[in-house]
Amino acid sequence: MTDFLLKRDIENETVDTESAEKINPLADKAIGVFDSGLGGLTVLKEIIKLLPNENTVYFGDSGRTPYGSKSADTVRRFSRQNTRFLLEQGVKMIVIACNTASAQAYNEVRQIAGVPVIEVITPGAQAAVAKTTNRRIGVIGTRGTVQSGVYAQALARSSGRQLHISQQACPLFVGLAEEGWWNNDIVKSVAGVYLEPLIKDNIDTLVLGCTHYPLLAEAIGQVMGPEVELINAGHFVAEQVMQQLRRDKLLNAQKQLGWHQYFTSDSASHFQQLGSSFLEQRIQAAGHIEIENY
Ligand code: DGL
Repeated sequence: MTDFLLKRDIENETVDTESAEKINPLADKAIGVFDSGLGGLTVLKEIIKLLPNENTVYFGDSGRTPYGSKSADTVRRFSRQNTRFLLEQGVKMIVIACNTASAQAYNEVRQIAGVPVIEVITPGAQAAVAKTTNRRIGVIGTRGTVQSGVYAQALARSSGRQLHISQQACPLFVGLAEEGWWNNDIVKSVAGVYLEPLIKDNIDTLVLGCTHYPLLAEAIGQVMGPEVELINAGHFVAEQVMQQLRRDKLLNAQKQLGWHQYFTSDSASHFQQLGSSFLEQRIQAAGHIEIENY
């Protein structure tokens, strides 16, 4: 298990005493975002919504997905390569838009990044604690995320009170999401099997602890029922991004809308097609990257 939560909190207490007018010369650079595939687009979408003037570079490692069933060492190596690729694009910040990589590689990414790094676990845990009324919270994620124990740690740290936490790994969800099967009978029947123990556990809040899962949110919501609140951390992560950029005087001051670049380690046309339908705006171009070269 990683100690990134503690380190992050300490880092956030740093107070910038420079004048508010002084803008960091890197402010017009892009925000770099990576995930094991399409899932991180659920985070990118919220970043673009909240910070429309920011430029972004997205890398989806669809050629090596899923991360959730790979060893921590492999996820760390992949995450370092993804980070090096984004740094080569001159980004001013790295957003690890993947729970598995946040859980297993946050410290490694921070060590090589030299720019601020945002993870996706703490914001979701905080949102879940704020929402629950019966203090029974469910977490679904990849096997890697669930086994790392980071959600239990983050939830406990975010709550002053005793919580009942039920966790469930849902590895098949990632393949379904990458395939574009977001809400059909197969997804609902797989979800029915995975989510049954959480329904029995009477949770009132469910953390979608994998950035691919919001793509399946409709099906998951139908299985869980309307009384269970689904937590998609994307919006809360975007808020973290904004706060960190503000603290570092890195907010882009341009008046026009930002530009967005997309790269993948698998088929660029598949990424373009599914990515556009998810983002609800056409991805004009996506580049193919040989990520093993980084
Ligand atoms: N979307 C990723 C996550 O949030 C990884 C899914 C996977 O590749 O297994 O964990």
